[in-house]
Amino acid sequence: MAFLRVIPILYVASCSLAVVKENFKTCEQSSFCRRLRGFKAEVSPYQLDLTDLLVTDNALETKLINTETNSHFKVSLSAVHGDIFRIQVDEVMGLYPRYNPQYALNGEPQPAKLRVVDKSKEHITVQYSDNKATLHAKPFKVEFVKDDNLVAVLNSRGLFHFEHYRTRPTESENEVEHQKIEDPGAWEENFKSHHDSKPKGPSGIAVDITFPGAMRAYGLPEHADKLPLRTTNGGEPYRLYNLDVFEYEVDSPMAIYGAVPVLYAHSPKHTVGFFWHNAAETWIDITNSKDENVMSSLVNLVSGSKESSVSAHFISESGIMDMFVLMGPKPRDAVKQYASLTGVAPLPQYFTLAYHQCRWNYNDQDDVTSVVANFDIHDMPVDIMWLDIEYTDGKKYFTWDPVKFPNPDEMVNNLTSTGRKLVVIIDPHIKREAGYFLHEDAVANDYYVKNKDGTVYEGWCWPGSSSYLDFYDPKVVDYYKGLYAFDKFKGTTDDVYIWNDMNEPSVFNGPEITMPKDCIHHGNWEHRDIHNEYALSHTIGTFKGLVERSPTRRPFILTRGHFAGSQRYTAMWTGDNAADWSHLAISYAMCASEALGGISFCGADIGGFFGNPDMELLQRWYQAAVWLPFMRAHAHIDTRRREPYLFSEDVKNRVRIALRLRYAHLPLWYTLFYEHETTGEPVIRPLFYEFPEEAEVLDIDNEILVGNAVLARMIAEPGVSTISVYLPGGPTEQWYDIEDFKMYQGGTHNIPVSLDKIVAFYRGGNIIARKDRPRRSSSLMHNDPFTLYVALDNKQTASGTLFVDDHASFEYRAKKYLYLHLEYADNTLTSNLIDKTDYPTKEWVERVVIFKPPPGVKAATLTSKTLGTVDLEVAYTREHKALVIRKPGVNIREPFSIKLY
Ligand SMILES: *[C@@H]1O[C@H](CO)[C@@H](O)[C@H](O)[C@H]1NC(C)=O
Repeated sequence: MAFLRVIPILYVASCSLAVVKENFKTCEQSSFCRRLRGFKAEVSPYQLDLTDLLVTDNALETKLINTETNSHFKVSLSAVHGDIFRIQVDEVMGLYPRYNPQYALNGEPQPAKLRVVDKSKEHITVQYSDNKATLHAKPFKVEFVKDDNLVAVLNSRGLFHFEHYRTRPTESENEVEHQKIEDPGAWEENFKSHHDSKPKGPSGIAVDITFPGAMRAYGLPEHADKLPLRTTNGGEPYRLYNLDVFEYEVDSPMAIYGAVPVLYAHSPKHTVGFFWHNAAETWIDITNSKDENVMSSLVNLVSGSKESSVSAHFISESGIMDMFVLMGPKPRDAVKQYASLTGVAPLPQYFTLAYHQCRWNYNDQDDVTSVVANFDIHDMPVDIMWLDIEYTDGKKYFTWDPVKFPNPDEMVNNLTSTGRKLVVIIDPHIKREAGYFLHEDAVANDYYVKNKDGTVYEGWCWPGSSSYLDFYDPKVVDYYKGLYAFDKFKGTTDDVYIWNDMNEPSVFNGPEITMPKDCIHHGNWEHRDIHNEYALSHTIGTFKGLVERSPTRRPFILTRGHFAGSQRYTAMWTGDNAADWSHLAISYAMCASEALGGISFCGADIGGFFGNPDMELLQRWYQAAVWLPFMRAHAHIDTRRREPYLFSEDVKNRVRIALRLRYAHLPLWYTLFYEHETTGEPVIRPLFYEFPEEAEVLDIDNEILVGNAVLARMIAEPGVSTISVYLPGGPTEQWYDIEDFKMYQGGTHNIPVSLDKIVAFYRGGNIIARKDRPRRSSSLMHNDPFTLYVALDNKQTASGTLFVDDHASFEYRAKKYLYLHLEYADNTLTSNLIDKTDYPTKEWVERVVIFKPPPGVKAATLTSKTLGTVDLEVAYTREHKALVIRKPGVNIREPFSIKLY
């Protein structure tokens, strides 16, 4: 949760929901952003010296010179497996080493073979598959060509700039400089000891990249903004700087909790991605030719035509320049290319996809018990209870409040004996209190982040005076992971999981509510270098702790701060939103953007964290949240209780239906997460991802696709009785309303909606496996049978997949799973295993429902090895909109076919 009214000098408590913008910098107030945004050159002063060229199998390296300052840089261009180019620029003989993020990449990118196809003093062209890159010398520029189309140009606008560290040794320190050449390490030490208190000087980096032909740019999470990135010229750039922004506002490029510096430039013809691998504060200006006349000259410059174009200007405070160009050609390709670099989310446990109930705070152990009991009494499913900071003894993490939670073991056992789980919060700030074991260990063993003078940094957070663990130090991670052991964190069991909040890090009395940039981390890195990566380093420690603690369970962690690569360890949520229609409305866009940034496991707090939602908003929020990967309700300590069983029968019933719909689709979510791990495809997808050729979908962000089979349209407008929904795919595409099975063709439709209505469609051509028996929690559904929903396309065919395993362990990595291919064609439904694997299960097929079935079906027969051939009952329902096949009864482990007659 966000810092609230703790330091009245900084925060004026207000009743209306509004961010205090004065707490956060504008580009103008950020000196490097102002400097580099203002850097303009008629002609870029940067030139390559292509006579100084080294070519290897996978890369070429050459020299770059700023002709105005005569400073020298090294440029390398390499090919990365999977249609990716990487360009790195660093200083030659820089005064200080520059930082390159340590945790974002999922290992070293795999090199691919690169061939020089053309070369002169003025340029050099290399080729890799159907991708080409041309380095131009005067001025420096790099063109990227896919399949003979120019798709991206680096430094076409001449905004490339690389600030040399300017604080050079004075004459009397020349000796030191000589020493550096012989032994850079010793020099660093020596120089640092002389210069500790001196600022290093400007070290910003910036570059522009233009995408000829692109119509939209997407990505760059996290912002509370619409899915397509807006033109920022004349306004604030998008900012990436992990911050605890109290009452963030929507439709804003302001920085919030997370930073994933990847963007995608898209047109119906081509999609190309750009990953700016940098963990420092970053600002990005976007210019889209559709918004501006100023772009036209620039577009002409690039492509010689008046075609559309998008351009981005990346500005970071420090670090080396490390860029990946993801060559596409379709959104699916570019997103998978990004996943190949930063990794995927490992398959989460099944229960994590169910409904989570959170509040700041459940007051005591009886409160926890009674909330769950009430869910049971009111017949609403819930899987996970959450405890916010008040469960601790005085905000000392890894402890329990002795009065409110005197018997955590018993509470946890009571909870988990009903199949439920617990998640407790663990933040990275540590209370500075004598006698607190963690603080004493940290002081004794030097685990904390330092001030620039080498003393331990102290900030203010929930516990009061706090220090911050330095996860950049391997010994700290070693220590930290051990804290999650059952004998250390008493009261926890295999069924207790972790919420890492406040890890931007949030520091109530720090600049912009975070850690000062001149704090020092292990390896001598300044906080400014690593800031956006700190939360990731925190969750890696937690992940290791959970794996060691419970080696047979897949960890579950929720984080607020995040960076590129966080998906490998943790789920995230959109932080402290508000009980406001605008915050519901932005939730799909925010999570879709995260999913494009590799982080599919995303949700927004149902009901809104701040404020009290009215009943209509609360119900609409539950209905919309059915279709986001992480489904949690959460509320601020000052809000009225809003557990869904507290309301009228009508409201309870609508929430119950929404929750049951979620639980019915858990097999779909689970299968999609499995496929995400194996393919890198996002679990939720904006429409343009599946329909890249359709111009109509470019700006749609109140609809989302769950995999490729479900389209959900949120209702974030109060008091509506009709909504408009765009169904992509054109007139040959068939979409089925999941409630009344009514078929719609692609196009825009106005649909009447009552408060009961959840607007969602199955796409024709898909088979969706559901579990429709209502239960109290997902663990009770494990052996329940499936209903297969067959949504036929206009060729009367459909297909789908289903993943089944033990829901919890790593055994699926040892081939203990079933992965089914379901197919419907020629009036026959078949099921076969995709992989040669096995998992013994009691799950079976209870029912098949076929949408837009063939007419005149009188009977069906099932054939399988153990059942032989069996006659099945069939019946048309809903005015012949669907055909139901009853009780096939076959275990899903067994291949089968069902033929209609
Ligand atoms: C656990 O459940 C038992 C039996 O219902 C109850 O008596 C006890 O108070 C519960 N303990 C806690 C800590 O919730």
